[in-house]
Amino acid sequence: MSQIQSDALVFFGATGDLAYKKIFPALQAMIKRGTLNVPVIGVAKAGWNLDQFKARAKDSLEQHGGLDDVAWAKLQLLLRYVDGDYVDPSTFVAVRQALGSAEHPAHYLAIPPSLFETVVEQLVKSGSAKGARMIVEKPFGHDLASAQELNRILLSAFPESSIFRIDHYLAKGPVHNMVSFRFSNTFLEPLWNRDYIESVQFTMAEDFGVQGRGGFYDQTGCIRDVIQNHIFQVLCNLAMECPARGDAESMRDEKVKVLKAIPPLTAKHLVRGQFKGYLDEKGVAPDSKVETFAALELAINSWRWQGVPFYIRAGKNLPVTCMEVLATFRKPPTTNITEPDIPQNYMRFRISPEMTVAMSVSVTAEHGGSSREAVELVASRHPSPEEMEAYERVLTDAMAGDATLFARQDYVEEAWRIVDPVLKENTPVYVYEPHTWGPKEAGETIIPCCGWDTPSGDEPPDFRIVKR
Ligand code: BG6
Repeated sequence: MSQIQSDALVFFGATGDLAYKKIFPALQAMIKRGTLNVPVIGVAKAGWNLDQFKARAKDSLEQHGGLDDVAWAKLQLLLRYVDGDYVDPSTFVAVRQALGSAEHPAHYLAIPPSLFETVVEQLVKSGSAKGARMIVEKPFGHDLASAQELNRILLSAFPESSIFRIDHYLAKGPVHNMVSFRFSNTFLEPLWNRDYIESVQFTMAEDFGVQGRGGFYDQTGCIRDVIQNHIFQVLCNLAMECPARGDAESMRDEKVKVLKAIPPLTAKHLVRGQFKGYLDEKGVAPDSKVETFAALELAINSWRWQGVPFYIRAGKNLPVTCMEVLATFRKPPTTNITEPDIPQNYMRFRISPEMTVAMSVSVTAEHGGSSREAVELVASRHPSPEEMEAYERVLTDAMAGDATLFARQDYVEEAWRIVDPVLKENTPVYVYEPHTWGPKEAGETIIPCCGWDTPSGDEPPDFRIVKR
């Protein structure tokens, strides 16, 4: 099964926001790259016909990345549409008919998890589950128990090897680059451990609010929306051991080991915030205590990392939009040729908006003498137009049966185990002004040894390196 190419793509939630913003552009990109040549069946309950569905797809492409006339001409021939309720068996009879001779469809659930059980049951009953793959969107549950229940539902009809749990962060080139950088550069590995690294910080800042997604966000909050999934994936790439083999399972085994070594978060090590004005957003409860910001500290009790604090800060309406990781090295000893306040070295991985790997080094300050200043050696580049965007990557891989960039059952459950207890504690939520670095309580309670990193939104020019 793992080598078989899916011979149809069925996506549930076809008239929704995700399809409009991400899926249609990804499908067009796949056509352009020559990786999509099978029927694409949209399913939704909107009272639409095929022409209306095609019009929506075309509009989506025009609004998100641009319409390519040649690719669109091909894509629109592949599009099919089934309108109907997910509880109505006739919807699934129509899906089966639209599948025609396809024997290995990929079913993509771009729908709320509360509908998974109904859809899975109907797929089984209508004969569309056999030989099929299941692609599911995040959030995968809202706590450990619900994630386990979703896994139970999916695994009742599909083997784990046919389930593809999307975390689009995994499909970002710079996230993957962290692993290849770590394991392709000899100088780094001897230093990448508790003996040399003092602390690690992850910053995922967005300078915008909930962008009309108040209804979704108010059920989710920052920890569930980006920390339990996206940031934990980045953290695993930073902390994991080198996999014994390059296959999907070996990679995923190493990631799970990192999570297993992380004790559950505690209230003492978490500060939650909410930007001023959030309560006025459409879909948000007037007395909502949902966090739009979180700052926290966690530990990885492994041989490599024990004793090294890992700090995470993420939020909406912060001063900039960027995702950055900063690993700070311990101070060198003070000698008669160095000053006590010599800058600490660090490695900086920037995930977005551009990919940067930077290393700080201390050099003699411009005015000479014994003082030192930190300068960065920077390798940076923007995504090239040829690179796959995250949704193109995940759809392409899932349809080809490559699970490397998807979250496995045990990974998802371990990630929930870490955040679940503290989510249920209803810790205080402190209000912060939009476009600041969160509530002051975050800076007073969670205090990284070298202060919080405040990455700039400025993007360096491409390739500030000399290639040899
Ligand atoms: C999504 C979250 O999963 O990731 C959003 O739901 C967040 O709230 C987004 O903005 C960030 O991903 P990207 O790729 O847009 O930086």
